[in-house]
Amino acid sequence: MKITPSNFKGKQSSRDWIERQMNDPYVRRAKEENYRCRSAFKLTEIDGNYKIIKPGDIVIDCGACPGSWSQVAVERIRQKGKHGYDDNQGMVIAIDLQDIEPIDGVTVFPKSDFTTSETQSKILRVLDGRHANVVLSDMAPKASGNREHDHDAIFQLCLSVLKFSSHVLDSGGHVVCKLWDGRETNKIKEVMNRMFTTVKTVKPDASRSDSAEIFLLGQYYKLRKS
Ligand SMILES: C[S@@+](CC[C@H](N)C(=O)[O-])C[C@H]1O[C@@H](n2cnc3c(N)ncnc32)[C@H](O)[C@@H]1O
Repeated sequence: MKITPSNFKGKQSSRDWIERQMNDPYVRRAKEENYRCRSAFKLTEIDGNYKIIKPGDIVIDCGACPGSWSQVAVERIRQKGKHGYDDNQGMVIAIDLQDIEPIDGVTVFPKSDFTTSETQSKILRVLDGRHANVVLSDMAPKASGNREHDHDAIFQLCLSVLKFSSHVLDSGGHVVCKLWDGRETNKIKEVMNRMFTTVKTVKPDASRSDSAEIFLLGQYYKLRKS
């Protein structure tokens, strides 16, 4: 049965948004499973199908706020030893323009623009010479409503993720990068095809069917020389 916001007196668009949230099974599941938002299920589905995050991995989560992908990543990297979980294994680094509430086991860089050399230097300092196994990007610019303009803006974010990944990814590492599908999608795929053994376009069930959102998955980074 559809639930409707009975006492809401605001704009129709806000009413529609509330109604959609109230009837969204992923919003309900996120609450039940203590994830910060429904996006968690996009990553759990991608990881469930392609097994990209392993125990002990170093994961960089770009555009991490409010933090559900980092919550999923930290669950996956933790090793279960004889005495329970060993927190010294693996690492998740979360970056966002916005503030990020602390997440147990995650190194957070709030109020940080991933595309700047300042932020990327902070990440490199934390890595301290190690390579990352997985780079995730659910980064999205503020949507302007102009589809082409928004596509171009997210395309630039993807390029920045791929460029940084080429410096930090370990041989065999993976990238998951959100894109709003559009005229430059093939260009990004070409770049990824040069970097990875396998490149796939993924649309998880939790990604709304009326959204241009897709995820490009690059598996097995092949350009690491040392
Ligand atoms: C869809 S949300 C991410 C949700 C997150 N994956 C989760 O599961 O909680 C997109 C985020 O990208 C962030 N973002 C956009 N551009 C960014 C940039 N240049 N640097 C860092 N974060 C950015 C936004 O601030 C926003 O919080």
